[in-house]
Amino acid sequence: MKVVIRENALEGSIWAAHYIADRINEKAAKTSEPFVIGLCTGSTPIETYAELGRLVKAGKVSFKNVISFNMDEYVGLPESHPESYHSFMHKNLFDFIDEPAENIHILNGNAKDLDAECAAYEEAIIKAGGFDLFLGGIGEDGHIAFNEPYSSLNSRTRVVDLTEDTRIVNSRFFDNDMNKVPKQALSVGVATVTGSKEVVLLVMGPKKARALRDAVEGPCSHKCTASALQLHEQATIVCDEASVGELTVNAYRYFKALY
Ligand code: GLP
Repeated sequence: MKVVIRENALEGSIWAAHYIADRINEKAAKTSEPFVIGLCTGSTPIETYAELGRLVKAGKVSFKNVISFNMDEYVGLPESHPESYHSFMHKNLFDFIDEPAENIHILNGNAKDLDAECAAYEEAIIKAGGFDLFLGGIGEDGHIAFNEPYSSLNSRTRVVDLTEDTRIVNSRFFDNDMNKVPKQALSVGVATVTGSKEVVLLVMGPKKARALRDAVEGPCSHKCTASALQLHEQATIVCDEASVGELTVNAYRYFKALY
């Protein structure tokens, strides 16, 4: 695992955007096969997406041959709801890049048969060739996508129940009323994420300090599903100085000196 520590969240976010653009360009220089990317939501990736939008506008990268799959969506929230992940992705990324609409995949949390929706999603990922890169965030409890503590590290896309903790944290997007936060979501599994050739995780701010410590220095355990990245050959965590407070001094110095 690599841990890239940048001075602040903006610098980390911009670093990640350039890293992703470089990976897309590298693949495009070698093959006409599409670049398959997993995308996350939340407040953390917003600046990375803004920079990707600027890079597309400046002609430094193109998403014309990129296929994307989002990691999760709430169950029962209309797509048009301002806090649906459909709305989020269009508002923060898809409206500013040149990815063809037919290449965009987001789980349908209003599907009649949610299990069938999840199975079809996994199949579509395989059909696209599997993920080249998965961009993720992390929950305060160490969850990756909506894989709450004690989710199987072998899990695949499925219906998940959201913990009270997550619903309280996410209530900031729902008038601070946790009763307005859906109780379930569709989410890619931990194994869907770790099945990607490469994973990049954005971890910013002091509220993520314990999750960062558990992911990097804790045991690889379902208690912190992001810790599954310890077993991945190409995992990079991009974080800021504000999030490193719980790392041991040794780990901090090690990563700081290397990256
Ligand atoms: C939600 C999403 C996660 C995201 C997490 C952190 O729970 N399902 O994918 O990583 O929030 O969000 P934020 O970046 O707003 O802290």
